[in-house]
Amino acid sequence: MNRVAQTESYLKEKFKSESSGHDWAHLHRVYRTSLQILAGEAPHQADKQIVSLGALLHDIADWKFHHGDDSAGPRAAAKWLKSLHTDETTIQAVCTMIKELSFKGAGVQTPMSTLEGKIVQDADRLDALGAVGIARAFSYGGFKHRMMFDPGALPHLHQTAEQYKAQQSTTVNHFFEKLLLLRDRMNTETARKLAEERHRFMVDFLERFFAESHETESAHV
Ligand code: ADP
Ligand code: NI
Repeated sequence: MNRVAQTESYLKEKFKSESSGHDWAHLHRVYRTSLQILAGEAPHQADKQIVSLGALLHDIADWKFHHGDDSAGPRAAAKWLKSLHTDETTIQAVCTMIKELSFKGAGVQTPMSTLEGKIVQDADRLDALGAVGIARAFSYGGFKHRMMFDPGALPHLHQTAEQYKAQQSTTVNHFFEKLLLLRDRMNTETARKLAEERHRFMVDFLERFFAESHETESAHV
């Protein structure tokens, strides 16, 4: 078995009972989407092994579960890759990618310093969009005991900043705070195309969600 296949079976086992949005299915989708972007974008310029290992290992130790310690991911990845006798250059590249990916401080946009990192960041962001992204957002919200939305302050797609601020922190708000902004933050053209479709699907979903909620609010029973 090669290194990528060994990493796949290791993570499949390690993440099999994970339910916070970073399950094995997420890692596998990010891996597959990264290869798709690589093929569409830079098949000869990016290192396929670094993209594959970085995509698979990118959430090995998520910062939310490590109290802001962003060295936990690179450390865990390095330990695993050393056990496979991976060369030092590849280990360094994967660790740098994971470190840059997990930096989410102070609303600052994360600049990725390598093409491999840009590809995996796009794939990770794409997995927060579309039908899968919607499912992940609501499952994460449930995990954090958040309300789906605040019926007292039903948001709509063209709300003002003031209307927005009046709402409490709900899963629907996460769409406005983050998910609807991701389409314009893709690094690669291939990802931008995929993001466009997924973005439109989320907007359709939100319109229906609000329409159904309004209907319920105004129904006289
Ligand atoms: P990743 O590490 O995969 O880049 P995050 O850890 O930021 O992503 O989030 C994992 C999933 O949980 C994503 O699908 C994201 O949209 C969702 N999520 C993160 N924060 C929130 C939130 N406050 N409300 C709802 N969903 C969230
Ligand atoms: Ni991820």
